[in-house]
Amino acid sequence: VNHLLGIKYINKKDIDLIFETADHFKEVINRPIKKVPSLRDITIANIFFENSTRTKLSFELAQKRLSADVISFSAAQSSVKKGETLIDTVNNILSMKVDMVVMRHSSPGAAHFLSQNVKASIVNAGDGAHEHPTQALLDSYSIREKLGDVAGKKVVIVGDILHSRVALSNIYALQMQGAEVKVCGPKTLIPRYIESLGVKVEPDLRKALEWCDVANMLRVQNERMDVNFFPSTREYAQQYGLDKTLLDSLNKEIVIMHPGPINRGVEITSDVADSKQSVILNQVENGVAIRMAVIYLLASKIH
Ligand code: CP
Repeated sequence: VNHLLGIKYINKKDIDLIFETADHFKEVINRPIKKVPSLRDITIANIFFENSTRTKLSFELAQKRLSADVISFSAAQSSVKKGETLIDTVNNILSMKVDMVVMRHSSPGAAHFLSQNVKASIVNAGDGAHEHPTQALLDSYSIREKLGDVAGKKVVIVGDILHSRVALSNIYALQMQGAEVKVCGPKTLIPRYIESLGVKVEPDLRKALEWCDVANMLRVQNERMDVNFFPSTREYAQQYGLDKTLLDSLNKEIVIMHPGPINRGVEITSDVADSKQSVILNQVENGVAIRMAVIYLLASKIH
């Protein structure tokens, strides 16, 4: 398939190939000349209908380091605001001889819909509360880098699981690689179907942390809620926030992850986010190599 729409649609062999390719590109981007000429014949459009810092810049940088031509588009400053549809927008961009589209959209299934309606390779950069495949790939890659392997590791995902595309893509990716996954958070922010995915719920943060090797701390996504799903930010922080006292009271060292953006003092305090156990900035660094690998492998099927 010429798309990356979600982790659900790939397999362990695909992930292994992406990681092997990312290992090579990670070495490349640590050289004085961080660029390879591989994709000089490819043009990519990054179209973002939702805000982004890490994903948008990381894709752009990955594409530039592969020598692709890149155009970037934010819906907020585009003719979408004048009523142009998604398909019309993308078909107009494709008529400028674009080969691949990286899209972030607030609607779950938007990337899948696009892949069925336009002639281009589509990469999902996050579709609503559905999937964020490159985030899950860079998260697993960062676990592999830190702990040697993903297989056999215990990973707890903490926070707003209900509205999180990062959680769902991570669950698929981690399980595919043989990790055990639990979630922890307020009952109102855990989807009812979670146990049908083979994921156990641990409502108590201390117990969850004592169990795990890796804790992935998520942000509460207030922008996806019509009403508050938890009484208050302060109460959330008291019950589900990770601070240094709690981290230091565990009987082992765990790895701390966060996909960003962080709400410091809510799901994680600054002294934890900036601690030795945190790999948050390693995740961002690895995102470029992972996205280079994904784009390179997809582009190899274009010509
Ligand atoms: N992790 C992530 O998707 O961050 P951005 O929303 O800043 O892209």
